[in-house]
Amino acid sequence: MEAIKLDEGKMPVETKDGKIILIDQRKLPHAIEYFDATELEKMCFAIVDMVVRGAPSIGVAAALAMSAHLRDLALAGDRQPTLADLDAVKAKLDATRPTAVNLKWATGEVHAHAKKLIKEGIGKETFAEKIFQFAQDMLQDHLARNKKLSEFGQSIVPESARVITHCNAGSLATCGWGTALGVIKSAHLKGLNPRVFVDETRPRNQGSKLTMWELMQDGIPATLICDNMAGYLMNKNEVDLVITGADRIAANGDSANKIGTYSLAVLAHHHDVPFYIAAPLSTFDPEIATGSQIPIEFRNTDEVLQIEGQSVSLQGAEALNPAFDVTPNHLIKGIITEQGILRPPYTQSIKEALDRNSGERN
Ligand code: MRU
Repeated sequence: MEAIKLDEGKMPVETKDGKIILIDQRKLPHAIEYFDATELEKMCFAIVDMVVRGAPSIGVAAALAMSAHLRDLALAGDRQPTLADLDAVKAKLDATRPTAVNLKWATGEVHAHAKKLIKEGIGKETFAEKIFQFAQDMLQDHLARNKKLSEFGQSIVPESARVITHCNAGSLATCGWGTALGVIKSAHLKGLNPRVFVDETRPRNQGSKLTMWELMQDGIPATLICDNMAGYLMNKNEVDLVITGADRIAANGDSANKIGTYSLAVLAHHHDVPFYIAAPLSTFDPEIATGSQIPIEFRNTDEVLQIEGQSVSLQGAEALNPAFDVTPNHLIKGIITEQGILRPPYTQSIKEALDRNSGERN
């Protein structure tokens, strides 16, 4: 395997000479290949097929794709893009994956900025330059926010903690330091000696492929388990903490994350193991009162019926493939954000954190 370190400038989404280059996460950990997603159609395919995945990374990728598309529209024509152009490109990207709200948040930010630039009446070259720069700045902002939330997360990690995580909430998923894995990475660097049990995360195996890859590169002790082994470990008192990321958090703290997270939270509750979510504020959806309103993506059932293209069932077998589930707020001990660790009652603590955040940004 080629030795690269994602936190040394190799990000899952990068820009080079105006192009948008993705690490093809479908090929990891066996090969490091790159995917040029500068064209809008290619980016839409890349998000749907999970060349790029993880809520924050999808958001960054979509923001760059939208701004690159608007840039190219401006440079190819004799005028700036219109509001109808902005709406069309946003709608196309937003439709690619329904659960992760970071996608809509990020395209909303680009939409608002493009609208402002159009109103300013600047020339098309200046528009093209400024809109692409705006999305590139969002990428930098992401990194800073991941690091901040990882620092806040240190207070909940006991020394030599045995931690379970689910899916991949590291650099690959966030274009940054990571959220759940960011907390673990920062604890490792502080000398707290965490060791991680990694759920393999069927059906797409983000745990066995991506999280194991990231942890092993960072020299953090990690043990792969099948998704149905967490109860065994908790029952034997071998787990101190569960931390996962999130794809969308409702106003009351109910949190959607990769399928299997809810089962893990129920098990943690039963065994009195603290269950935490780590997520940037762009993952919160204050428009949605409870988790029952979060749209759940259903993916192709071949992901369940096959592994690496090989059938693991019978010809004609039926299968179900919800990609996410919702963990109700009462199972969550705290939500680690760049505005600190939010505690119940979440309706109040989430509102306060979002208000503080928008106050700081204005
Ligand atoms: O289907 P995926 O791989 O995009 O799902 C990713 C997850 O569920 C992650 O846990 C979530 O996006 C949080 S990443 C910080």
